[in-house]
Amino acid sequence: MLNDPFHQPAPLILPSILSANFGILSSEINEVMGAGGDLIHLDIMDGHFVPNITIGPPVIKSIRMATKAYLDAHLMISDPLKYAPVFAKECGVQLINFHVEAVGDSAAAAREIRKLGVHVGITLNPETPAEMVYPALDEVDMVLVMSVHPGFGGQSFMPEVLAKVSAIKKRMRPNQRLEIDGGIDAHTIVRAYEAGADWFVAGNAIFGKIDRALAIADLRAQLAKVRWRQPEAEIKDK
Ligand code: DX5
Ligand code: ZN
Repeated sequence: MLNDPFHQPAPLILPSILSANFGILSSEINEVMGAGGDLIHLDIMDGHFVPNITIGPPVIKSIRMATKAYLDAHLMISDPLKYAPVFAKECGVQLINFHVEAVGDSAAAAREIRKLGVHVGITLNPETPAEMVYPALDEVDMVLVMSVHPGFGGQSFMPEVLAKVSAIKKRMRPNQRLEIDGGIDAHTIVRAYEAGADWFVAGNAIFGKIDRALAIADLRAQLAKVRWRQPEAEIKDK
């Protein structure tokens, strides 16, 4: 696949459309991708797993038709296994991130989602211990660490999750990625990168700026200042 971000060396920047203007969503997506975003992060909330409701299959199908960007579906929903097939097969997302708090057997959940032909990520809330994702680690392409309580954009980064980022990263294979989501800006991105994160979701820090290209360039410039960490190698075989 041409735009498969698992074949691009990390770090990557993932604009989260939660802070976009939904009235002109396709132009917002095309703008941030043209401005240097690597892939699009979709925040899908059901008003039950989290106290907010966002978008579902009809909107995501339209997004799929409006962009060639790789789509990362962050499922903040109570029954991810029920809805994963529609997101994978009908909406054309390429990565499904399910919350460990929403499933019983996380390794089995990851295997079931992989059968749909998508990349698989396991996500954990700020207060969820790292150990919760370890049973599924061999089954996933990535771990997504929440650095805010999920539900809303524009919240403050929680530095207490950084120790968890480092602990999880130590157990991951080089071809797996660690994504971080919530409160990422030009300051917090440096701390998250130093702790071991590779993919950086940013909503407010990109869509909240008039010049989105400048905002993304600023995030990349901060990462480039961190000299001691080598970029993750491009994945040759997967
Ligand atoms: C929060 C979402 C995040 C959010 C990030 O529940 O999962 O993806 O949009 O937004 P910022 O970068 O503004 O914290
Ligand atoms: Zn998210």
